[in-house]
Amino acid sequence: MMDNLYYRPLEVEDFETYLLLQEEALQNSPELFGSDYESYQAISKLNKEQLFEQFLDYPYNFLLACFNSSNIPIGMIGFSSKKDKTNLRHKGEIWGLYVKPDYRTKSIATNLIQHVVDSAKENLGTEQILLKVAVPNTKAYSLYLKLGFLVYGTEIRALKVDNQYVDEYLMIKLL
Ligand SMILES: CC(C)(COP(=O)(O)OP(=O)(O)OC[C@H]1O[C@@H](n2cnc3c(N)ncnc32)[C@H](O)[C@@H]1OP(=O)(O)O)[C@@H](O)C(=O)NCCC(=O)NCCS
Repeated sequence: MMDNLYYRPLEVEDFETYLLLQEEALQNSPELFGSDYESYQAISKLNKEQLFEQFLDYPYNFLLACFNSSNIPIGMIGFSSKKDKTNLRHKGEIWGLYVKPDYRTKSIATNLIQHVVDSAKENLGTEQILLKVAVPNTKAYSLYLKLGFLVYGTEIRALKVDNQYVDEYLMIKLL
């Protein structure tokens, strides 16, 4: 099952398979992400496609996916930067990290993060990468720590899921 995995930025023709993975991620892990399944479902398909198309601008704004041997995306991560803002160009942000349950603990998330960090550094000269992670998400938090991200703050009550507040750590990796 783990044979022939490969990584590449999503392209316009990946929209349908991306949508399935995105909806699965939001449905499985609402407390782990900033957006939620119901809000995402309320967006029209055309608007979802337009949102997706904003991330077809490699190496500035993109979704990097890991594909299996059937060419299905089984994990992904988003990267955003502000290429037009001189005073923000030194920073990048990662978000939306998700790996399908059957493929976890095989270093796919580690590889996705590493590819994004390398791309940002080499292609854009990015100096620091930021992310947010829900405090209860210990698995993702320890993964980020292991990869050299440090906590620089905590946003209390960052999310409200099923009437429960969730705090988020703000993390940074200096490149
Ligand atoms: C968090 C998440 C992305 C991790 O994905 P993953 O591909 O399993 O991550 P990795 O395999 O790279 O690393 C995860 C752990 O597995 C371990 N691991 C890696 N390869 C392994 C292997 N071959 N055998 C056993 N363990 C392994 C890693 O060391 C790491 O362990 P740690 O807890 O000590 O850090 C995944 O669990 C997920 O999608 N969760 C739901 C969404 C989510 O939380 N997203 C993050 C939002 S901020």
